[in-house]
Amino acid sequence: MDMKQTILTRRSCRSFTGEQITENECTALLEAANAAPVANGNYSDVKISVIQDQELLAKIEAAVCAAIPAVGAHPIYHAPTAILISGRKGEGPNAAIPYCNASCIVENILLEATNLGLGSIYLFAVPAVMQMLPELCELAGVPSGFMPIAMAAVGKGTDGLAAREADRTKIETVRL
Ligand SMILES: Cc1cc2nc3c(=O)[nH]c(=O)nc-3n(C[C@H](O)[C@H](O)[C@H](O)COP(=O)(O)O)c2cc1C
Repeated sequence: MDMKQTILTRRSCRSFTGEQITENECTALLEAANAAPVANGNYSDVKISVIQDQELLAKIEAAVCAAIPAVGAHPIYHAPTAILISGRKGEGPNAAIPYCNASCIVENILLEATNLGLGSIYLFAVPAVMQMLPELCELAGVPSGFMPIAMAAVGKGTDGLAAREADRTKIETVRL
């Protein structure tokens, strides 16, 4: 798929078949993640947890839902793979950098997933609630001094992928 087609085809998937992604697909997603821009090139400020243990995913969903029921019972939508991006906690004007880094990384993962014909979705609610649950962070491989920031949920979607109209315009834009 060419780049423009991939960008137009990416969309949030909230219904997965349950079939696990292949090792090659997982490798491609991680290559895409590692190709993302990271502030100051400080790669050691970012950690990635690839979570494919279905019991752990269920535990994360249950704990997150118990803490904040508004997220719903299945905030990971039964995706078989969840890639959690964590960032080193920062202070002052740099406090937002972990969020910026994680967003760049997640978008690269989503685009590569689309390129592979996989369904994917950016999840913020799950890691946001996980920040309040240190035991869950430990289970998810988040090191001390880091916090979960964003998650890319990936798997085979039940619906096919189709490019949307290139002229979808939703963001108010000024040209000066
Ligand atoms: C920063 C961010 C956080 C998001 N968090 C969630 C989330 O927690 N749960 C969810 O179902 N979708 C989440 N989404 C997906 C958005 O709802 C979705 O991208 C948006 O509605 C546009 O639809 P599209 O992705 O199909 O283009 C998030 C997207 C972004 C960019």
